[in-house]
Amino acid sequence: MQPHLKKAFTLLAIIIIAFIFVRSIAVPDSFGEYGWYRGDSVNELRNQPVEHAGSQACSDVDCHKTLYSIWSESRHKTVNCETCHGPAEKHVSNVRIMPEPANDSRDFCGLCHYKRVARPGEFPQIDPVTHGENLRCAYCHNPHKPWFV
Ligand code: HEC
Ligand code: HEC
Ligand code: HEC
Repeated sequence: MQPHLKKAFTLLAIIIIAFIFVRSIAVPDSFGEYGWYRGDSVNELRNQPVEHAGSQACSDVDCHKTLYSIWSESRHKTVNCETCHGPAEKHVSNVRIMPEPANDSRDFCGLCHYKRVARPGEFPQIDPVTHGENLRCAYCHNPHKPWFV
């Protein structure tokens, strides 16, 4: 074999061995157990605490039944309670634990309602500069039953 080829093959062999060595250290044991991902991640995800209870849970056992029925007929019926009120599983399983107050800032409502050219034209949008005299949105709108239903 030509000497320069010998060098090239030796180098290639070293690279392959180094790759196998690094891979054996870097790839977690459970990789490939079920597919192209860490098998352990399935258990890790399953063991995460449940944080959301779902809107329905708010109306169970007569807690917020009236509010729920108002909301479920309103145009906000597609915006779940926990979208504005945050995760509520702790509060649902123990009513003594109060949820964080809902975010009632203008910018929060604005996440969905500030005018953006990328939004469908028929979606209700406002210009934050001219609309609502810089007051909190809930000052005029009921978040559980916004107007014009
Ligand atoms: C669009 C956001 C939004 C959604 C959706 C929403 N809320 Fe609210 N909620 C608020 C805000 C903001 C306040 C504070 C109102 C205020 O400051 O006048 C509030 C207040 C409340 C209060 C305390 C005051 C009151 O009116 O009794 C309760 C209880 C409540 N919400 C429950 C719910 C439940 C249950 C749902 C789902 C059925 C829900 N909310 C859906 C934003 C929301
Ligand atoms: C996660 C997105 C989201 C958030 C946050 C949100 N909304 Fe809405 N809002 C909607 C959707 C969806 C509709 C229904 C649109 C439709 O029916 O076409 C709606 C409808 C409305 C309408 C009715 C407009 C009409 O023409 O009838 C008003 C007013 C309104 N929202 C005010 C608020 C206020 C005030 C807040 C904050 C307390 C808020 N929204 C937070 C998604 C959101
Ligand atoms: C001073 C009272 C007031 C405040 C504060 C206010 N609004 Fe309104 N909003 C109105 C009135 C009145 C209308 C109906 C007339 C109009 O479209 O201007 C309206 C209409 C809307 C509509 C329907 C627009 C459409 O074209 O369908 C949306 C969405 C809305 N408001 C969202 C908000 C949001 C989000 C905030 C907070 C950033 C807010 N409003 C603050 C009084 C208010």
